[in-house]
Amino acid sequence: MLKTYHITTFGCQMNARDSEKLSGVLEEMGYEEIDSESADIVLINTCTVRENANERVYGHLGQLKNIKKKNPGMIIGICGCMMQELDEVEKIKKSYPFVNLVFGTHNIWKFPKLLQQVLNGQKRVFDTVEEINDEADKLPVKRVYQFKSGVNIMYGCDNFCTYCIVPYVRGRERSRNPEEILDEIRRLVKSGVVEVMLLGQNVNSYGKRVMKDGVITDGSTITFAQLLREVCSIDGLERVRFMTSHPKDLSDELIDVIASKPKVCHHLHLPLQSGSSKLLKKMNRHYTKESYIELVEKIRKAVPDISITTDIIVGFPGETDEDFEDTMDVVNKAGYESAFTFIYSKRTGTPAADFPDQVSPEVIKSRFDRLLTRVQEIAAEKTLIHVGKEMSALIEDTDDHLDGYLTGRLSNNMVVHVPGDKCLIGKIVNVRLNEAKGFYYLGEII
Ligand code: SAH
Ligand code: SF4
Ligand code: F3S
Repeated sequence: MLKTYHITTFGCQMNARDSEKLSGVLEEMGYEEIDSESADIVLINTCTVRENANERVYGHLGQLKNIKKKNPGMIIGICGCMMQELDEVEKIKKSYPFVNLVFGTHNIWKFPKLLQQVLNGQKRVFDTVEEINDEADKLPVKRVYQFKSGVNIMYGCDNFCTYCIVPYVRGRERSRNPEEILDEIRRLVKSGVVEVMLLGQNVNSYGKRVMKDGVITDGSTITFAQLLREVCSIDGLERVRFMTSHPKDLSDELIDVIASKPKVCHHLHLPLQSGSSKLLKKMNRHYTKESYIELVEKIRKAVPDISITTDIIVGFPGETDEDFEDTMDVVNKAGYESAFTFIYSKRTGTPAADFPDQVSPEVIKSRFDRLLTRVQEIAAEKTLIHVGKEMSALIEDTDDHLDGYLTGRLSNNMVVHVPGDKCLIGKIVNVRLNEAKGFYYLGEII
């Protein structure tokens, strides 16, 4: 009989990549992925970066409880960042008895063994101990897209921005050995990948502590810019992206590689968080309003057609009207092609959770609305600039909304919809951008 699984993934690209590993393991065990939660194995890969991410998981578990009533043999597993928090694990243990399997980001490599314990009849398996090694890189992978892939170049984060929980749930920063990364990309290219996205919480500090055969050694042997150069020299690979760049560590050498290597996509995600130097200090970000603006100007000068996107937090403790105006000022000056805006969410255990002067929800809402409106206006203006131009696009999918259309991604990460046959999926084609529709284009293949 057909054995099936379903995975719901919350959070960032790191989690998306982890889910591809979970799929890889399940496929090797003979399970088939289905698009419904009435599967034999249902996994939730969680995110905990903001409180609402956690709420969504609990809402989801409520639905799964009902599905399991009809299918008592089903296995429910929860993993990911939220499961690196002891309180959350305790809550699942006590209040969600129908959950069979819990493991965290540190021990995802144990997934095959832990699942086997459940399959062998153990009712509940909880394993969230911190055991850092490089076993996860050896797990089989089932990619969502055949033609593009994320590639972890480093794990964890040592920056401890005072609002952020990631360093607590993803552990200390460690980089993968460059040879292993390059080998992985060569294998991906052989299996049909034309675009890779190099993944890390702060790729610009790549190489500080390198992990080889499970052992971490200090001392930088290779910078991110050097790694990027090496990746570009892989034959058959067409495009390289990376995420995320911390402004404090972005080197001139990196700007030079972006400008000079045609395979590097012209998109930089450069989280601002706040435009106020005072708040940036309280956030432990290690740059100022002025140095950030200078950096953006330098990048735009070196790579004029680059798109710069960002993350901004509204309502960090102590944010005054003046601080918020600084954020608006940077938004106006940086001219982001797109920006993710977040309302500050208090994360227990982070220093900012205990900071005085938490901002009231009403004030946050009015600031947030103003910021969002401005961000969208600028993004729409920026989109207009390229109308009429010809660019290359990687065709990623059929268009969900327009029959006979395909969705492509430009080097600058913007999206274009073009008429075409689905046999073009995975191919890089030249397109003309005929019309701007807010944040995307309608175009044609030329
Ligand atoms: N490593 C990346 C960010 C990872 S988290 C970086 O440093 O840029 C993604 C985004 O979530 C962050 O950039 C930040 O804007 C947002 N974020 C993190 N913690 C948050 C919190 N407590 N409240 C609201 N937004 C938060
Ligand atoms: Fe969080 Fe800062 Fe690390 Fe990004 S760099 S993951 S925001 S602590
Ligand atoms: Fe969320 Fe974990 Fe990523 S907390 S943002 S899934 S690293």
